[in-house]
Amino acid sequence: MNINNPTRTIWLKEGDPTIIQVIDQRILPHKLEIVDLKNYQEVVFAIKDMIVRGAPLIGVSAAYGLYLASLEAPEESTAFDAFINKASEELLATRPTAVNLHWAINKSLQAISHGINPQAKINIAIEIANKIAEEDVENCRKIGEFGLDIFKDILSRKNPGETLNILTHCNAGWLACVEWGTATSPIYHAHSSNLPIHVWVDETRPRNQGFNLTAWELGKAGVSHTLLVDNAGGHLMQHEKVDIIIVGADRIARNGDAANKIGTYLKALAAYDNKIPFYVAAPSSSIDWNIKDGIREIAIEERHNDEVKYINGWEGDTLRRVLIAPENSPAANYGFDVTPARLITGIITERGIWEASEEGLVGMFPGR
Ligand code: MRU
Repeated sequence: MNINNPTRTIWLKEGDPTIIQVIDQRILPHKLEIVDLKNYQEVVFAIKDMIVRGAPLIGVSAAYGLYLASLEAPEESTAFDAFINKASEELLATRPTAVNLHWAINKSLQAISHGINPQAKINIAIEIANKIAEEDVENCRKIGEFGLDIFKDILSRKNPGETLNILTHCNAGWLACVEWGTATSPIYHAHSSNLPIHVWVDETRPRNQGFNLTAWELGKAGVSHTLLVDNAGGHLMQHEKVDIIIVGADRIARNGDAANKIGTYLKALAAYDNKIPFYVAAPSSSIDWNIKDGIREIAIEERHNDEVKYINGWEGDTLRRVLIAPENSPAANYGFDVTPARLITGIITERGIWEASEEGLVGMFPGR
């Protein structure tokens, strides 16, 4: 997908492959700034502070973080391995909900372990990070093709000339991945196929990924969209202004329950009440085969309550933070919620569209 500049969210610096470059997502949409990540500790900070965020991108960043760790590690073999293990533990501890982080680190560690000496391990670390990034691009592209079929099907049942109204929550866009996005990939495919689409973009408090990131992406791509405060979706659904909801996922349990940004569950409930299809789009790296029951077992990140009590805005050329609640009131900041499988119409992965259930998921990935 080449409509963006930069075209990707993460890459090796031109002329210096010891530096990883990413977009600073904390200051979008106001400023497009590229950040250099020069060692694994900077990758740890970038994930924790949400310079990079979104489940697939967190995983890819961690894989590049391990590559940077391999460059920093001592040359002696045992000390090298110990350094890599310590780095992987720190990377794993950055954010708890997106399983892509564990998936990418395990995949990298396994590959690196086959290197016969530290130099061979460095070569493998960069190869596997690049491979994980490329796979994510391809998986998201395929998700877009499968999702496009769903959009076409719904449009075929509307009157000629009518628009397909899509609602999405948070940012499951190319900024959350490497390219394309998950929930946005069918949207970009539909847009380039000239289908009449319009996207309702949920604000997504407290960090406003919908307004800051999804709206920015869609605007740059020329996709028609409208901003919505988080609580407006139910009203629109009651008034037939939403044809389909499509969201991403940070972790999908074996039973099809899906964790995504806080507020997703409420959208799914309203969709169910109004008989509106609700799809979850995610690559297989977001499926946690070890978790049987998403609601009971998926770890939900709790972030600092300042994110609830303060809001960021752009004034002049500065990002300002203002208090929006009584300073001394306690606040809770749950980052994610889990939508039960029974409320999900289907899960779209790189293998197709499947029922949100253990049978559906295992049917899609036989042998799991
Ligand atoms: O806290 P974030 O911004 O990392 O949360 C992101 C989301 O919840 C996304 O919807 C999810 O990671 C899917 S991204 C393709």
